Amino acid sequence: MSPTPVDDAPVLGAFRITGGRSFYDTASVEIIDQLLLPHQEVWEEVSTIEGAFDAIKTMKIRGAPAIASLASLGIAAELLNLLNNRPCPSFPAATLSAPPAELLKLLLDRTAYLLTSRPTAVNLREALSRIEASAKAEASAQGATAESLAKKVIDVAVGVWVEDKERCEKIGKNGAKWILEKLEREGTIQKGEKIAVLTVCNTGSLATSGYGTALGVITSLHKQNRLEHAYFAQTGPYQQGARLTAVELASLGAPNTMVCDTAIGALLGEKRVHLFVAGADRIASNGDTANKISTYQISLLAHHPHPHSPNPPVPVLVAAPLTTLDLSMRSGREIEIEQRPSWEACTVRGRVVDPAKVAKGQMVSPAKEGEKVQVETVLVTPPGTNAWNPAFDVTPASLIEGIVTEVGVAEKKEGENEYDLRAFVEEK
Ligand code: MRU
Repeated sequence: MSPTPVDDAPVLGAFRITGGRSFYDTASVEIIDQLLLPHQEVWEEVSTIEGAFDAIKTMKIRGAPAIASLASLGIAAELLNLLNNRPCPSFPAATLSAPPAELLKLLLDRTAYLLTSRPTAVNLREALSRIEASAKAEASAQGATAESLAKKVIDVAVGVWVEDKERCEKIGKNGAKWILEKLEREGTIQKGEKIAVLTVCNTGSLATSGYGTALGVITSLHKQNRLEHAYFAQTGPYQQGARLTAVELASLGAPNTMVCDTAIGALLGEKRVHLFVAGADRIASNGDTANKISTYQISLLAHHPHPHSPNPPVPVLVAAPLTTLDLSMRSGREIEIEQRPSWEACTVRGRVVDPAKVAKGQMVSPAKEGEKVQVETVLVTPPGTNAWNPAFDVTPASLIEGIVTEVGVAEKKEGENEYDLRAFVEEK
């Protein structure tokens, strides 16, 4: 079996294993309930496929790589329980003594179910396809049994989680190197000068198995002492910036300021920002990129500085693992965009505090793990208001200067508006 992943994340991450034990011992993983962050740190155990599905659907966990990891761990947990004669809802105990084809059939039913949890992020489909392919190969291998099939799938599923953190560090380093070299080459900054970066949504260790993608680029710049400032968009209506990126940047000790989504144009006109870096949920083979809603409009603004401002256009960098590339899609027109319920856009969730204290800057201290604070969901619209609430938008390749992955940075050919990501992947 694969090496045992350990919980060594120095900053708050999406996952942990109880008591520093191995996933193979616990057959479960704990996820932090991101609906309650930053006000309350509540960990929830997930040991079933149904549990993983619900956590993804309700967005207790979110971020393209993290949801792929949790879906995979849900499958692995149930199969571990099956092998150890413990209850597991998806696979009856008798499956273990039946031909492997029976376990394969049940497994394929469960992967199809998990795939319906959230449609836009391709990482989920990629992970589930990898699990399915390994199960099919094992089921048809000479001498295969249900037990050998279960073990094979557990290995592949745990691998989805383990590999994510390592590749995120590479993405961060590659992205930081690319932007610093580009700005120095173009004479925009002096050698060694620090840069200011804008990002959107949450793409850090809460959205991945650790380190993050776009936030990984910012982390790498900060670790090299090349980050002057990180601006992050509030990211309504779900407030991933305000609730999650704010926590991650603070725990990294990176200088940071939140920017309301409605203030991005003004920010780029007034402050010198050197880079807009975003994550991705699905990238078509021509480089069109689906990411958190507002990424498109921020990219447009980055290319069109305010006419009264001396600031030059800001390069746009997309940071994602290779598993986010969907080479089966020619362009972003084919990407399905998830619509979230109207009520999510009509409400805010937050900690109940005394507004007078907040106005005086006397904010109460953050809650410790286990400490109960009052977190409430408040309606901000008239009851019955209907909101159009797409979770993602597509930024056209023409607005993206680079796509950084764990194997390097893809760029467009001189004078072209689109990428050839198939050629990029084949070359690597
Ligand atoms: O709806 P969410 O919070 O799952 O959306 C997340 C994003 O859009 C991220 O930018 C993307 O998944 C990349 S995370 C490394």
